[in-house]
Amino acid sequence: MEANFKPVITNLLNSETIFQELHSINDLGKIYSQIIEEAALENASLLETNIHGGNALSPKEAIDCLHDSIRTARFLKGIYIALNDAKKNANGNRVEIVYAGSGPLATLIIPLLPFFSSKELNITLLDIHQESIDNAEKIAAKLGYLDFFQGFLARDATKYMHGKPIDVLITETMDKALTKEPQVSITKSLADQISENGILIPGKITLYYEHVLFAELLTAAVLDDEKRISNKPTSGKLELFSIDKNIETKDFEFQSTPIEVPKVYNETPDICIQTEIKIYADVFLHPAESIITNPYCVGALSSIKGSNYQLEYVSAPEPIWTIKK
Ligand SMILES: C[S@@+](CC[C@H](N)C(=O)[O-])C[C@H]1O[C@@H](n2cnc3c(N)ncnc32)[C@H](O)[C@@H]1O
Repeated sequence: MEANFKPVITNLLNSETIFQELHSINDLGKIYSQIIEEAALENASLLETNIHGGNALSPKEAIDCLHDSIRTARFLKGIYIALNDAKKNANGNRVEIVYAGSGPLATLIIPLLPFFSSKELNITLLDIHQESIDNAEKIAAKLGYLDFFQGFLARDATKYMHGKPIDVLITETMDKALTKEPQVSITKSLADQISENGILIPGKITLYYEHVLFAELLTAAVLDDEKRISNKPTSGKLELFSIDKNIETKDFEFQSTPIEVPKVYNETPDICIQTEIKIYADVFLHPAESIITNPYCVGALSSIKGSNYQLEYVSAPEPIWTIKK
């Protein structure tokens, strides 16, 4: 069977329900499974790399991200719209694209290539793992897409200089509540290389806090099913901060204003961070629709002796949350 992304992605782009999105990503997974088998990627390495700003997932874990299904569905939908908008702004020139943290499958761009011509897009792939970048190049070659690519570079994206303005920067190197992985450090170092009307994907990541009974919250899982994804909690959250292409400061830091400890909290004893991602235009990834927007428990209200506390976030050397009591 010839790998053909076009029908599956056409279905995905036309999908209107979570069920249809899950179905399309399941089909996308089957096509990639065939590619993985043919390119002998089953034995992808499990070695992660620690950098200043977070943990770069291993090639194997990066492959598995495909099955964070609603994540993959929404990113592909948003990126498809963004590439078409960037094409309109490019006045016939090729759209300059940097995809930082492609993993071995370059999941967020390769399936969209049948909808574009190599005269329209000029793509540079970056991944810190040589194995991932070599395999992404192998897959692009096997599918006949090499003309779309300017380079396949094994580089740390937090130190990368592209040398010309980037029209579309894609990076999904994050975990829930912006912990563990270096999304903030990568965005920080590449955002000011984006051209004036250029596009960052994801366009905006917003973090909220709420007091909850953490064990009762719904959470998304790999190879999710529709039942778990629907009916997410959406109310009662208060915004902490958001990051977008205007992000500033060297190692991004945040400290909340004082948050009051409720007088009675036995039904909502946990301090939780929720994540919402605006990917592009009207395409969003809401709290608990994916592993990267699952709720994150910072601690228990019972550990706070005073009447209020503050939430603190640092993006480096490790992206972490702490409670200042
Ligand atoms: C969460 S995976 C995403 C894989 C794929 N882009 C997707 O969305 O399915 C993140 C990828 O980013 C890479 N990565 C993380 N930090 C990086 C850095 N500082 N420079 C380059 N690549 C990095 C990891 O090696 C991994 O392949």
